[in-house]
Amino acid sequence: MSSKPISVLITGANRGLGLEMVKQMVETQNPVSVLFACCRDPDGPRAEELQALAKKHPDIIKIIRLDAADPKSIKEAAQQVGPIVGKSGLNLIINNAAMAIHSPVFSSTPEEMYKCFNTNAIGPLVIIQEFISLLRAAAKDSGTLGMSCRKAAVINISSIVGSIEIAKDTYNKWTVLPYRASKAALNMISVCASVELQKDEILCMMLHPGWVRTDLGGPEGELDTHESVEGMFRVMNSLTEKHCGALLNWKGETVPW
Ligand SMILES: NC(=O)c1ccc[n+]([C@@H]2O[C@H](COP(=O)([O-])OP(=O)(O)OC[C@H]3O[C@@H](n4cnc5c(N)ncnc54)[C@H](OP(=O)(O)O)[C@@H]3O)[C@@H](O)[C@H]2O)c1
Repeated sequence: MSSKPISVLITGANRGLGLEMVKQMVETQNPVSVLFACCRDPDGPRAEELQALAKKHPDIIKIIRLDAADPKSIKEAAQQVGPIVGKSGLNLIINNAAMAIHSPVFSSTPEEMYKCFNTNAIGPLVIIQEFISLLRAAAKDSGTLGMSCRKAAVINISSIVGSIEIAKDTYNKWTVLPYRASKAALNMISVCASVELQKDEILCMMLHPGWVRTDLGGPEGELDTHESVEGMFRVMNSLTEKHCGALLNWKGETVPW
């Protein structure tokens, strides 16, 4: 991220794209001031790499327990972050945590639909609700006009597979109905939030990271996590109020709805 140190919160920060975001935000000449690296099981084996990174950068990385599928855990995370950021507030939230369930229309169960919606769409909504006062504080404290990720912003990591316009052409390649539907819901939530947040000068938009080689993307993905995150950070640095409610990919191109 660019020059001015800001406070950032990332969900699903223990592996995949979230972990790479943490790495790139701290291993730079201009690191963020404080990075709340959220994951649902900070003491478990899947958070070992994040724990090691936090040990290397103890002044910057604060590991926070946050389960995107559990509103109580989101509230508790906000209660921990608030006193740390104080009146400066929280500049940037990246709603990155998500789960994918590979299931077609005729065998997707209500439980599978619910799980994906809960983590991928309702979780980011509750996060906006619980952290809104910290985002507002950051917007007020910045003393700058307009909108940017350095001032106050929510970036929801969405996916091109949430696009209804191209679903007919891509469905057979990625037969993941619960995931697709939850990302389409996330897109609607994000656009509605972007309208409501505008009056507080808080930017809200969505990014598609590309098809990336992670546990979720699989080994066939076109990008590695480094390229994808580098691209997304470049886009984030360029965002202004013009991008409220936009859905862009890691190259900054508009993704069809
Ligand atoms: N990879 C791609 O090709 C691709 C393409 C388009 C969009 N995306 C989006 O990019 C984002 C990151 O995906 P990724 O590829 O990095 O996936 P990943 O490697 O599977 O990582 C998913 C992350 O989300 C976390 N997570 C899942 N459920 C959670 C919950 N209930 N609470 C908190 N954390 C939870 C996981 O934590 P645990 O270790 O605890 O499970 C993990 O840290 C997602 O929003 C995904 O939809 C990815």
